[in-house]
Amino acid sequence: MTQAAIFDQLWSAITDIGRNPVTGGYRRFAWTEADLRMREWFAGQCQSRGLELIEDRMGNQWAWWGDPDGSATGGIVTGSHLDSVPDGGAFDGPLGVVSGLLAVDRLRSDGFRPSRPIGVVNFVDEEGARFGVSCVGSRVITGVLGPDQALALRDADGVTMAEAMRAAGRQPEQLGPDPEALSRIGSFVELHIEQGRGLINLGRPVAVGNGLWAHGRWRMEIPGQANHAGTTRLNDRRDAVIGCAQLVLATRAAAEAHNSLATVGKINIMPGGVNAIAGLATAWLDARAADEAALSATVDHIEGQLASLGGVMIEESRTPYTEFDGALVTRLARLLDDAPVLSTGAGHDAGILANAGVSAAMIFVRNPTGISHSPAEWAEPEDCLAGVIALASVLADLAKPEP
Ligand code: GLV
Ligand code: MN
Ligand code: MN
Repeated sequence: MTQAAIFDQLWSAITDIGRNPVTGGYRRFAWTEADLRMREWFAGQCQSRGLELIEDRMGNQWAWWGDPDGSATGGIVTGSHLDSVPDGGAFDGPLGVVSGLLAVDRLRSDGFRPSRPIGVVNFVDEEGARFGVSCVGSRVITGVLGPDQALALRDADGVTMAEAMRAAGRQPEQLGPDPEALSRIGSFVELHIEQGRGLINLGRPVAVGNGLWAHGRWRMEIPGQANHAGTTRLNDRRDAVIGCAQLVLATRAAAEAHNSLATVGKINIMPGGVNAIAGLATAWLDARAADEAALSATVDHIEGQLASLGGVMIEESRTPYTEFDGALVTRLARLLDDAPVLSTGAGHDAGILANAGVSAAMIFVRNPTGISHSPAEWAEPEDCLAGVIALASVLADLAKPEP
């Protein structure tokens, strides 16, 4: 079988899981049936390769080639996540996991003998699409998110994470920081679809990631008074949707003023009747910036506008600006024929690990649409293969026998 056919075979095994046949987008939310099927698929792939599968205290799945405790300096780990945003693309997450497995296959068929264990990880709930907080898998094991806080998070139906995990056959009481799992990581290199236009005009299929923008999520509550749409005079109304509309425009203005990115991508209107004036609007802000000061200025600007509407803002998560390990980034870029080096506004488990002191970097695979978190996200098959080859050479270099 050609390398392309091998990639295709592995990829096609998951293309129907959690896919909406009408939109072509994926809904693989944490601990739902689609997510559990993805986890089972991953476990099966590890078993068929004879990789040892270890779950940490959050349920992140680590597949090991070699004894995970067999190196004093830890193993070389790659991988990503298998969950998705609402109506997400096929590549955000799964490309990193599939490429990790194929890179291991490639090294083995080349007869490579690593001097350190090599791991492929599937991080739980990276997108936070169901419970609101992103990168829960890495936040919990690094202690950035406490187990009680995580388990109390609720989805849109009011189901807590604890309940969802129990319904999925898990034991939520096991959740917590996992220094043992972290101690097994010597270096972490996450391969990921590029989520913007960074690689499009560079004539190269892969880049090395050197950092992530500061970013976070805030919940904003805009009050109003629920009332009858047909009998309440315009002057007597307190319409939460009008306040929400003003806030959305203020969000755009704040991003323009502070050279950042700010988005309201989710709004909930109560009571949500066509013939009722809204009594409450809840809007979620996603804000990102190349530095902390710009992020804070953006959020303060929006919070000021919200306060003038009588509303309140609640921070749901915040991740500081993250610089990956400079020496590792330089080593990877050199190894990959002076690959371009890019930073990104997207968040990743690699960032949470880096902030916890793990030596981390990323590899991005070209996305010709420049679109992500949408079914239009894409990578050409030959670029996916180039990613696997790049990742295999990175793993081989980092796990090569000492001279
Ligand atoms: C994850 O993809 C994020 O950047 O929100
Ligand atoms: Mn994503
Ligand atoms: Mn991702």
